[in-house]
Amino acid sequence: MSWRATILTLFPEMFPGPLGQSLAGRALREGRWALDSLDIRGFATDRHRSVDDTPFGGGAGMVLRPDVVDAALAAALAPGEAAPEGAPEAAAIPRPALYLTPRGRLLDQALVRELAAGPGVILLCGRFEGVDQRVIEARGLREVSIGDYVLSGGEPAAMVLLDACVRLLPGVMGGAGSAEEESFSGGGREALLEYPHYTRPAEWQGRPVPPVLLSGHHAEVARWRQAAAERITAERRPDLWARHLRAAGRAAPPPR
Ligand code: ADE
Repeated sequence: MSWRATILTLFPEMFPGPLGQSLAGRALREGRWALDSLDIRGFATDRHRSVDDTPFGGGAGMVLRPDVVDAALAAALAPGEAAPEGAPEAAAIPRPALYLTPRGRLLDQALVRELAAGPGVILLCGRFEGVDQRVIEARGLREVSIGDYVLSGGEPAAMVLLDACVRLLPGVMGGAGSAEEESFSGGGREALLEYPHYTRPAEWQGRPVPPVLLSGHHAEVARWRQAAAERITAERRPDLWARHLRAAGRAAPPPR
């Protein structure tokens, strides 16, 4: 059974969007993952099909109703629902349900790896001021943010999360090794940013490629790349650099 993503959104037509292109799109067509989007409005019960209401206590904006969101989640979580055709119902493993919100824990490569290793995800995309807190608690939704900025809705965040997961699925990324060498992947270059890359021409606009990369000395190239990755990480991301030093058993630099 393939890895499956179900999106709960007020804008189902936004999907697959960019996920239908390139690496993720090819993997989707090859059946390495599956995507369906459910329109939250389809679970409204009143004749106006309303999904939101004004916040108790006053204030700006609108809040998604817990009953409507809960009905959408129930549909996505139902065993067999959204399972690939012909898949035995009993084989359906419950997927984690995540709510994309700037209040959530920050998405990082560790969480991406965890989600990619599971059966898939159910992603609730908020709009307006947010979602009634009670349905977040009642359904045990994991709140996830893609960064410290505010989007107008969770849909682009869902796309970011899915792109990061899908490229880790078996058979999706060609060139074994590229997934392990890159930034945040752990392994040898524990949580370092990637070293810079160069290709032909060897000199461009008066800028030469670092000579060691043309030397053919694999060990020296590896040393240069490691040093470059360390320098860039220390310069740009003191937080990652301190973590790297701790993992390597070296003292973290004193806080500035
Ligand atoms: N919705 C709005 N802003 C968001 C963010 N930064 N991350 C996840 N979901 C969001």
